[in-house]
Amino acid sequence: MPTDKTLAERLLHEIINSGFDDWTVRVAALVIATLLAPIFAKLIYRLYNQFRKIMSASTRLRRAEGAVAKDGGGIWLAPTIPMAPPANYTQLKRSIPILTVANLKGGVGKTTISANLVAHYAIKKEERVLAIDFDYQGSLSSMLLSEAEQDTLYQEQSDSRTCRASYLIDRGTDIWLQSVASQVQGAGLERAKVIPSFYSLAGTENRMMIEWLLNKRSNDIRYSLSSILLSDAIQSRYDRIIIDAPPRLTTACIQALTASTSVVIPTVLDSLSAQAVGTFADQLRIHQQLWPNLRICGVLGNMTAKNLGADPEGAVEKMNAVEADAFVNCRDVLSQSLQTAVGPLRDAALFPASTFIPDKIELGRAAGERIAYASPTNSQPIQQIRDVFDRLGDEIDNRHNA
Ligand SMILES: Nc1ncnc2c1ncn2[C@@H]1O[C@H](COP(=O)(O)OP(=O)(O)OP(=O)(O)O)[C@@H](O)[C@H]1O
Ligand SMILES: [Mg+2]
Repeated sequence: MPTDKTLAERLLHEIINSGFDDWTVRVAALVIATLLAPIFAKLIYRLYNQFRKIMSASTRLRRAEGAVAKDGGGIWLAPTIPMAPPANYTQLKRSIPILTVANLKGGVGKTTISANLVAHYAIKKEERVLAIDFDYQGSLSSMLLSEAEQDTLYQEQSDSRTCRASYLIDRGTDIWLQSVASQVQGAGLERAKVIPSFYSLAGTENRMMIEWLLNKRSNDIRYSLSSILLSDAIQSRYDRIIIDAPPRLTTACIQALTASTSVVIPTVLDSLSAQAVGTFADQLRIHQQLWPNLRICGVLGNMTAKNLGADPEGAVEKMNAVEADAFVNCRDVLSQSLQTAVGPLRDAALFPASTFIPDKIELGRAAGERIAYASPTNSQPIQQIRDVFDRLGDEIDNRHNA
């Protein structure tokens, strides 16, 4: 039985002896090799590229899976290379006040308080205020803008399928921001501008979050807003920035918190809402490496049954039993959640009860989605609202400057 080798040898021998000269075979082999070589090279190159793509996709998937795993760090702590805030992030310590009004609990008055603070600072303190609406529901936008302006913006977003808040978090620049902020409507509000938001913000946020998880962005999207707001152009154009956050840690909310000097946490004074303050404080601590300079300016009671008055001690006494309990609970959950926090986050406290916002129909939606503080009337409830926001505004300033 001949082995394969001897068979191959015999075949070769027969080919050579079947009328072809040695050199003819060699030339033929050379021609075939010359023709096949580039095809093989291309094939190998393609295989190599496919292999690289598969490896890179599997790394991206591992990153995404690791981030959302039960024991993972969470979406916004997914490791990134390089993990570095923008060069101008150190400016945050010298920044104009950038205040985010946030709480992961919905319906506690974030938007109402943001809008009235914008009015307080623009009217009473004559500051140039930039308001940013980061909730895709666009409630702040509808409170601050005239109906005509809202219609124009709605048309613009329908045509371009993006809103200004979307553009700001995704591709905005300081030059762009200077030219697109819309005028806030209302007497005395000439110095206030707003970056409005609509439903398209949700789509942009989701896309950016997935791109982030899959490591498909060349920049660290958690700091895009801070690099714009800390630019000289914006810092010299405004005296204060107020951001209305949604009740979720969305892409825009993360950008707001990394860009902020401080956060105001409104809460309703009941036991469930007090627990929610602890939950939010936990998240602020867990993500603290993202915002090492952020301070909690204060936890603010909203919709108290009575107007609690200007005297801080007396205000505590005027609370009803449920509110008084929640007040103590808020203090406890805050210190518990922030026990292991470092830096400014540790010093969080409640605002004095004299700055808590009473439940007033004039502040609610029944008022026609307008800003009570800027109301043309001087009724007693409106005056009380102005007084309490003036106290709150002063307290925020004291805490910022402390
Ligand atoms: N002090 C107040 N007195 C009366 N009504 C209030 C007061 N604060 C807020 N409201 C009303 O409570 C509702 C919720 O307020 P708001 O929209 O400001 O909350 P939010 O925290 O921004 O909600 P979301 O989480 O949905 O963004 C609104 O109808 C608002 O008008
Ligand atoms: Mg809101």
